[in-house]
Amino acid sequence: MPRMVPSAAVALLLAAGAAMAAVQPNTPTPMPKVQEQMKTIVDKTSTDLFNTAGEADPANGADQKVPDAAGWARLRADADKLKAVAEWMQDSKNGKTGEANWMRAAKAMSTHSGAASKAASAHDAKALAQAANDLSDTCTACHKFYKKQD
Ligand code: HEC
Repeated sequence: MPRMVPSAAVALLLAAGAAMAAVQPNTPTPMPKVQEQMKTIVDKTSTDLFNTAGEADPANGADQKVPDAAGWARLRADADKLKAVAEWMQDSKNGKTGEANWMRAAKAMSTHSGAASKAASAHDAKALAQAANDLSDTCTACHKFYKKQD
């Protein structure tokens, strides 16, 4: 004969379920591991990439500042690091991989940092500027839902 579950235990289970359901999708919650990656890798590398790609953009005309060989190599390394973080965020141990908006933004970050890396390898300033532009949209796309706006 199975024992009857005491009603107090049922109430507890229901309360636990309600607490879990209270964490809404598409909302910011503290993500210390993600924050660490953003602080130590993404912030620095993306700032360099965005600035340098902006200066290298042929749309600047006479003011265009094309990177030297070391600059291109640094850009490629920046882009590769960003791509690695984007892949890392698509692991369920690290990111909110059950949520479509998370996955969409992380995948887009991976795609556009990959394009930036390719452009840097090819010393293609126009493609780099485009990739950097697209890449910065992916930061906003994710932060809009998952980073507390201050
Ligand atoms: C798939 C989601 C996602 C993408 C894409 C993403 N971020 Fe973030 N980022 C986060 C989350 C989540 C936080 C907040 C973590 C926390 O504070 O708990 C954050 C926080 C940050 C922070 C603040 C770190 C601090 O000092 O507290 C910076 C800077 C940042 N991101 C830069 C970027 C840049 C630049 C890009 C694009 C190149 C980017 N992020 C792309 C999810 C993302």
